[in-house]
Amino acid sequence: MNKIDVLIPEEDVRTRIQEMADEISEKYKDQEVIFIGILNGSVFFLTALAQLMTIPIEIDFMAASSYVGTDSTGKVLITKDLARSIEGKHILIIEDIVDTGQTLHLLKEMLEKRKPASLEIVTLLDKPERRKVEFQADLVGFSIPDRFVVGWGMDYNQKYRELPYIGIINE
Ligand code: IMP
Ligand code: MG
Repeated sequence: MNKIDVLIPEEDVRTRIQEMADEISEKYKDQEVIFIGILNGSVFFLTALAQLMTIPIEIDFMAASSYVGTDSTGKVLITKDLARSIEGKHILIIEDIVDTGQTLHLLKEMLEKRKPASLEIVTLLDKPERRKVEFQADLVGFSIPDRFVVGWGMDYNQKYRELPYIGIINE
């Protein structure tokens, strides 16, 4: 077992998610919104956020991983694609954390080709110091320092996703 220190307590995470849900509900009132969760990390944040929305939404998921090809340009591999078209819809990509920015930068570029009415990125956490490509999420829960975190969907070797607070592994 690893020892885990609390970086952001559960109550603070829930308070911030409520604020984010209020902000999104207001901004998208009268619009058709689809939340797109990026598996697996976004699941806890997406469901908490979705349940606090005051407007109806749709939910879909995709899974992707980014890698650097031999020509050193980033590529994104879609391992699970969306179940339906996003053309003409207002899309909110829901992520657990933006780190180097590589995955979302490429994913955003790819999804924009499918002609959504709008496309914004919502992330629970952001580690701006780690960025390798220029990328800015549209709505960020918390900006955190360059530390490896777990909980709220984020894992360390597939463990600790279920923790209801944001923790730092202290070995
Ligand atoms: P990137 O922004 O393309 O580097 O990829 C971000 C992804 O890496 C996130 O969606 C997480 O799945 C994972 N990740 C980045 N930082 C952390 C962390 O501190 N803890 C757990 N997973 C992380
Ligand atoms: Mg992720």
